[in-house]
This record gives sequence, C-alpha cells and structure tokens, in this order.
Amino acid sequence: MKTEPLLTATELDKSYNSKAKAVEVLADASMEVHSGEILGIVGASGSGKSTLLHILGGLDRPDSGNVSFKGQNIFSQGNGFLEQFRNQHIGFVFQTFNLLPDFTALENAMFPGLIANRDKKSVQEKAEEMLGLLGLKDRLHHKPGELSGGETQRVALARSLVNQPEIVLADEPTGNLDSRASEQFMDLARKLNEEMNQTFVIVTHSAKIARSLDRVLQLAEGKVETIGKDLIL
Ligand SMILES: Nc1ncnc2c1ncn2[C@@H]1O[C@H](COP(=O)(O)OP(=O)(O)O)[C@@H](O)[C@H]1O
Ligand SMILES: [Mg+2]
Repeated sequence: MKTEPLLTATELDKSYNSKAKAVEVLADASMEVHSGEILGIVGASGSGKSTLLHILGGLDRPDSGNVSFKGQNIFSQGNGFLEQFRNQHIGFVFQTFNLLPDFTALENAMFPGLIANRDKKSVQEKAEEMLGLLGLKDRLHHKPGELSGGETQRVALARSLVNQPEIVLADEPTGNLDSRASEQFMDLARKLNEEMNQTFVIVTHSAKIARSLDRVLQLAEGKVETIGKDLIL
C-alpha cells in the first residue's frame, strides 16, 4: 500500500538576483519524502542542494511552487506557522554544526524543546536520552570546544531530535568529519531510522554514503531526478 508522502515539493522555482547576474537555482523541482525512509540528495557543488533543503524545511521561500507537509501548504498559513513548523516537525543538522559555544552539550540539545515552551524537566530527560543513545552519556556537560568534530555533530543530531520531529533534514552532515566519524554518524542515523522509524533527508557529497541510502535523488539544472545507485559518482 502506498502511503501519502510526509512532505511534497511541487514545481519549485528559485532564483537569486545579485548585481552581477540572476542565478536560476531551482526550475520546476518536485520531490516527495516518505515516512520512514532515509532519502539522499546528491548533485554538483552549487547545484542548489542547500537551497532545496532550506525550502523543504521552511527556512527559505520559493519564488513559485509549494511545499506541503501532511497535505498542508506550509507557505500559505498565517504568521508564526513556519516558525512552529520548523521547531516542531523538522530537525536540522548542518555541515558546520551550529552549536552555541558557551553552552554545554546538554543545554544545546535542549534548546528546541525550550523554544517550544515545553516543560524543562521533560525536555532535559529527552535530551539526555538522545545524547545517551548517540554515545554521549559522558559528555553532557562538555562545551563544543571540548568535543571532537564527530561528538559535536552527534550533539547537533541529538538537538535535531529533541522535539521528536517527523523529518530530520541534514545538509552534508559529514562534510567536516573524518571517515571514521562519518561512518559512526551514518550508523547512528540508520539506527534511529530502524529503531524509531526516524525519517531523514541527507544531502551528501559522498558517493559511498549515497549508495548506502534507501533512495537517492540528484539535483541537476534546477530539477530533481531519481538516480540509480550504479550512476552515483
Ligand atoms: N543568498 C544567495 N544569494 C545569491 N546567490 C546564492 C545565494 N545562495 C546560494 N546562491 C547561489 O545559488 C547556487 C546554489 O547554491 P546552493 O544551494 O548553496 O548549492 P549547493 O548546496 O548544491 O552547493 C550557487 O550558484 C550559489 O552561488
Ligand atoms: Mg550546500
């Protein structure tokens, strides 16, 4: 039985108009994200992967086209909707970690829950549970500067999960990690997928990672196409 997609992007167009020249990044880009999958997105540098991911997560708006989450157009709702959508339904993991340097791993992981105004104790319990699941039980009170790159990215992953979002969007999450830390990160993503049915969309430069994912899309000339594993370079 085919289920309704969690997230659907329809005919997205997006250009950037700088003084030098207009750059058309997305031109009729359409795609779906299904519950329980780990979806990969590949494409040359500058092909628009980050732009697409930002629009899917409501961090940026398309010039035309739309994104619907569980059938609801995320860009046509009232004020505050996008903020709430991002906070409660989407988890973000970035290449450069984006943790707050003056706060501990635990405090960083708790942030989305506190922003959502949830009860502090239950947010702390969830953050500790996620950090523990990601192998960071002994790093709760370390600050980012006291953690390795791999540990830092696992804190970012824990933070993305604290509000139990339907989808985690990860933009080259292993781009700054060595191969061992990259493998560990991907093993943990697969474990979360298997044990909690966590849905992921992962932009990656790594052919090895892309080939290991359930389904892979390629962004080229502003469009999204399905790509067979044998064609991933
Ligand atoms: N804020 C911006 N203003 C102008 N051009 C941008 C902006 N963001 C991205 N671009 C351009 O859009 C294109 C796609 O960027 P991006 O989505 O970051 O690609 P990717 O993540 O695939 O490397 C690039 O050519 C980039 O230079
Ligand atoms: Mg990018």
